[in-house]
Amino acid sequence: MSLDAHRRATESLIAFWADSGVDALYGDEPFDRLAEGAQRLQVKARPPEPTPLKSAQARAASPDIADALAAARHLAAAAGTLDELAAVIAGFEACPLRYDGARQAVFSRGPHAASLMVIGEAPGAEEDSQGIPFVGRAGKLLDRMLAAAGLTDRAFITNTVFWRPPGNRTPTASEQAVCAPFVERAIALVQPRVLLLAGAASAKALLRREDGILSIRGRWFEWRSEDGDMELPAMPTLHPAFLLRQPAAKKKAWQDLLTLTERLDRPGRPH
Ligand code: URA
Repeated sequence: MSLDAHRRATESLIAFWADSGVDALYGDEPFDRLAEGAQRLQVKARPPEPTPLKSAQARAASPDIADALAAARHLAAAAGTLDELAAVIAGFEACPLRYDGARQAVFSRGPHAASLMVIGEAPGAEEDSQGIPFVGRAGKLLDRMLAAAGLTDRAFITNTVFWRPPGNRTPTASEQAVCAPFVERAIALVQPRVLLLAGAASAKALLRREDGILSIRGRWFEWRSEDGDMELPAMPTLHPAFLLRQPAAKKKAWQDLLTLTERLDRPGRPH
């Protein structure tokens, strides 16, 4: 391959990653490329850079997941309003994601009394920088879809985790588990009539099922709180980031929204 063809292939791969939301790559260990180059030139290599202090210290200080979960449950239960819940999340130190490069906690947007709660996967780069969920490209598409379905002022929007996972990777089950008491508390405080679970990671965490999103999207499931005290109809749908990559799938997501709107507009509780 010519140098030019290599360059074009590399640019195309990077554009594909960027389109998929990948804007950073992390290795497990720091790698000193300057030292590698220096070695090749037979110049004495510099010692490798130490691991960033804040991250190492924070990891060591992180309690294990069971302790983190207990702390999250305790704090979430004590939050009497969504503003209190937002403050508690912002100060919560036991979620490991907090120490993996996230700039700030990203909790929610939308009316505090809403008939619909949309639960996405995790904040991305734009959300991390603004501190608001679904404000990047996927969020703009979500907004257009909600507007077209007449749901803009009826939707409270949040995620399964509140810190951006490094490199936009999918949050792990334990990261989602640690944040789950806050998600449940948000549901209890907003009191939506239905949940819309955007994407596989959200559907898996909230419904505790392993099915592929394409086989369960557009169907109604019963969401249950951990203690079994709350129950709500929940519909998994395709994630807007997926729709940006596969525009032909927008039709399916639109069908899901229509099914959801039909249920929301049935006579019942207000909002
Ligand atoms: N994707 C999500 O799942 N959540 C966001 O907030 C943004 C993008």
